[in-house]
Amino acid sequence: MAAPRILLIIGGGIAAYKAIELVRLLRKSGMVVRCVLTRAAEQFVTPLTLAALSENKVYTNLFDLKDEVEMGHIQLSREADLVVVAPATADLLARMAAGIADDLATTLLLATDKPVLAAPAMNVRMWLHPATRRNVATLRGDGVTVMEPDEGEMACGEYGPGRLPEPAAIKAAIDDALAHAPAPAPLTGQPDFAPADHRPLFGRRILITAGPTHEPIDPVRYIANRSSGKQGFAIAAAAAEAGAEVLLVAGPVPLPTPPGVIRIDVETAREMAVEVEQGLPVDAAIMVAAVADWRAADTASQKIKKDGSGAVPPLALAENPDILASVAKSAQRPPLLIGFAAETNDVIAHAEAKLARKGCDWIVANDVSADPMGGETNRLHIVSKAGVDSWDRLPKDAVARKLMEKIAHELETRAPLERD
Ligand code: C5P
Repeated sequence: MAAPRILLIIGGGIAAYKAIELVRLLRKSGMVVRCVLTRAAEQFVTPLTLAALSENKVYTNLFDLKDEVEMGHIQLSREADLVVVAPATADLLARMAAGIADDLATTLLLATDKPVLAAPAMNVRMWLHPATRRNVATLRGDGVTVMEPDEGEMACGEYGPGRLPEPAAIKAAIDDALAHAPAPAPLTGQPDFAPADHRPLFGRRILITAGPTHEPIDPVRYIANRSSGKQGFAIAAAAAEAGAEVLLVAGPVPLPTPPGVIRIDVETAREMAVEVEQGLPVDAAIMVAAVADWRAADTASQKIKKDGSGAVPPLALAENPDILASVAKSAQRPPLLIGFAAETNDVIAHAEAKLARKGCDWIVANDVSADPMGGETNRLHIVSKAGVDSWDRLPKDAVARKLMEKIAHELETRAPLERD
């Protein structure tokens, strides 16, 4: 019989170090182990340690699936015989119960068709909290095996149930789950996830920014703009449909996440800049977001009050980082870097100037004089050193698909993929 394959998802928390011992035990008994670390878990254990112990690649970030050509996140979630979450923090259990998929760990948990075993670890009050009780009940109702935590003194000094079960006990629960694992119920009529390398952006990683940013003035007020995020989201959807691994860094917009897209929500330009930097390297970055040029120089911690005197509070502004220009200068500059420009006049001349100023490869210029931000269609001019390619007015999703075709073609020239 083939060695059982375990996908071990390690949540953040002081108990994460015990995952190291668990990996050792599983390997000793001949199991194949692939580890996935949440961002929080990386504070407690290093991918390097786990890679050495598991003798396998460790995954920390959906977008970081460096060998995406061999292994997409859907395959990763399905190739194991059992998915084990240890330690399962209160937060991770809550996100599992709610079906949230906003990072690699939760995406795998939502995408898997294999049994899931969770070994909780958290403070006693968190374990006993009605919210956690509800989440555990929901998960059990959904067929997830949630172990009972151990009882005892906790790292925080309190006493009670909430300690991660000992690695040997988790190993025993894994043996039991493997012995009783039901065969996965296949979804009829679905394709299998053999590499879909006929898709034009298969094997590519694409980063997209979209939406406005909100720059707080005080707890209730902010500086914003009219960007709806629709064009950026349509581009993200088209990129995923074309087979790319897509990271969408989105400002505050109430749009649904397109299927297959990894979305990180941010509020401010500075938050967006951090997430974009962490998303690199990529094959192409498409900066569609309408990033606020300025933020309030100081954010008041309490609501600024009108005192009745008629005096207007001063609003000093500070310049925000130019994310596009920083990516252009970065050591990890993508082979294809695309900026957007919404203009009301002299669209092409402004775009040409912006191309040089920002250091990107294309500026997608967008005439917003007739149809301001938030509309359903767009008329674009793609401005590059090679010249100007002007398109007819089209619905935003058609614009997105046409743009993806052009990007796929351009990447074939700029950064050809090594395919077998
Ligand atoms: O300078 P302007 O805002 O017109 O440039 C628009 C382009 O630059 C867009 O691609 C936008 O996403 C990007 N940008 C940015 N960071 C800023 C301002 C704009 O990435 N702070």
